[in-house]
Amino acid sequence: MIIEKTRLIEPYCGELVNLLVPRDELVEKTAYANSLPYVQVSARVECDLELLTVGAFSPLRGFMNQADFQSVLDTMRLADSRLFPMPITLPIELPANAELGGDIALRDSKNNILAIQTVEEIYDWDLEETATKIFGKFDARHPVIAEMHRWGKVNVAGRLQVLQLPPHPDFAELRRTPAETRAVLETYGHANVVAFQTRNPLHRVHEALTKRAAEDVDGVLLLHPVVGMTQPGDVDHYTRVRVYKTLIDNYYEDDRSLLSLLPLAMRMGGPREAVWHAIIRRNYGANYLVVGRDHAGPGLDSQGEPFYGPYDAQDLVMRHADELRVQPLPFTEMVYLEDEDRYEESSRLTPDAKVRKISGTQVREDYLGKGIPLPPWFSRPEVAQILADSYPPRHRRGVCLWLTGLSGSGKSTTAEHIVNLLLEKGRNVTVLDGDVVRTHLSKGLGFSKQDRDTNIRRIGYVASQIARHGGMVICAAISPYRATRHDVRNMVGAGFIEIHMATPLEYVEKNDVKGLYAKARRGEIKGFTGIDDPYETPLNPDITLTAEGTTPEANAQVVVDRLVELGFVLNG
Ligand code: ADX
Ligand code: MG
Repeated sequence: MIIEKTRLIEPYCGELVNLLVPRDELVEKTAYANSLPYVQVSARVECDLELLTVGAFSPLRGFMNQADFQSVLDTMRLADSRLFPMPITLPIELPANAELGGDIALRDSKNNILAIQTVEEIYDWDLEETATKIFGKFDARHPVIAEMHRWGKVNVAGRLQVLQLPPHPDFAELRRTPAETRAVLETYGHANVVAFQTRNPLHRVHEALTKRAAEDVDGVLLLHPVVGMTQPGDVDHYTRVRVYKTLIDNYYEDDRSLLSLLPLAMRMGGPREAVWHAIIRRNYGANYLVVGRDHAGPGLDSQGEPFYGPYDAQDLVMRHADELRVQPLPFTEMVYLEDEDRYEESSRLTPDAKVRKISGTQVREDYLGKGIPLPPWFSRPEVAQILADSYPPRHRRGVCLWLTGLSGSGKSTTAEHIVNLLLEKGRNVTVLDGDVVRTHLSKGLGFSKQDRDTNIRRIGYVASQIARHGGMVICAAISPYRATRHDVRNMVGAGFIEIHMATPLEYVEKNDVKGLYAKARRGEIKGFTGIDDPYETPLNPDITLTAEGTTPEANAQVVVDRLVELGFVLNG
């Protein structure tokens, strides 16, 4: 009886789409795909492709054509009026030899063939219109709007035949398609399935919330964390999955909960995204979705205001619940009640209740960053330990000191003295000096804009690898172009410190330690930074120094003092 009821949780719109080509056609179609013009798709498109293929976005059968795209933007509905709030498009630069009506291949970043895309439609899309309609405002502080500038300028639509899913060697046993998830859920024998969407580590408030949600409807909990793309700066999914596994093994009932990973590329689209999440979870076999405070919210906009109201997402899902056939389980903010040692929704508290909470930023900065353990009322001890291991205190994290400035402004000398002071304090350092790098890593590169950028990106790439493994690296290179410096900042991520050697041109030219300025003035060197090639001054450097009127030792001391202040170096 019960199992029959479970089967009634049919996919959104009735049918699960499957875009994988049949096994017996695979060899032939792969050979054909290898002969086609191709594009390498972005990580985001890879995620979308995967979820289209397995039917997580049912009823979609491919990337949206212009009619569906425009209709979704304007009305949150496909052209045939079915509710679907998020555009799923293939924005690319068309390969030169692609033609309308023909096929192209979609490859991943490592050039593995993923799919054959028939080019039935090519259409323009407008960045501002698209962003405004999806996210409610055109504000580049939104992480996905910032990224959209880099998307391909045309959308392509047409038949999509998938040869293989993007390979994911990690946590394979926890990755399930909608069909596989449904099959497992059926064995639990419960009529109701409550999905919990998350992109964060789970703390005790979340444990209380998810357990209460499942109990309230006497259902199975589908713990369904996103492991595709989330908000930049989130805890990486490897760490998060270790957290989820520990919790599922030790703190949840086996016969009432299922952990399964979702390779979704989130849009941080608040209300529209919540409706989308409901559709996706219905396809995976859930008929309830927890929608708490600020669901899929992107944080603050450029005015410092939240993009969405804290309960906008709940309201929108609630309004469409019948059509979605997913009931939102709305929660107000869960907090810890100190006196009663339990967790409760803020809406159910008496005004004098003593509550405690720790925000995500506080977790990172006030606890993990300083090596202070998360308290037991906040996190299970196993979770606190996993997070502490993955996010060591600042003095054990990677740092990149990026020195930029004119030739002869004192970058290399300052770097040498910083190294000295840091070694004295027990922190080891690698120096990537522009001149030195040009003798090996960048040997053969010249001083055209393109070669300069290549050189800087190579330095940035190596620096990012050092910082990723907790090392400290000092890069000393003219790095004259703002955009390229921006790029390396993003490559390195947290721990990037920009130091502008702002020694004035007149001063470096007068001293001319390498005789280069004289040569440049005589025209013997062309394209010399500061003479006949631009130096774009940093607009917001973390530290500004000058060689004029001070010593390299004193400048190095300023830098090291700042590192101590920021916690990247221990004093003493
Ligand atoms: S989200 O971007 O995936 O929504 P997160 O993983 O933080 O972010 O939240 C997952 C779900 O739990 C969302 O529905 C969110 O509203 C809810 N949630 C998270 N923390 C709380 C809390 N303290 N109280 C109530 N709901 C919460
Ligand atoms: Mg130098």
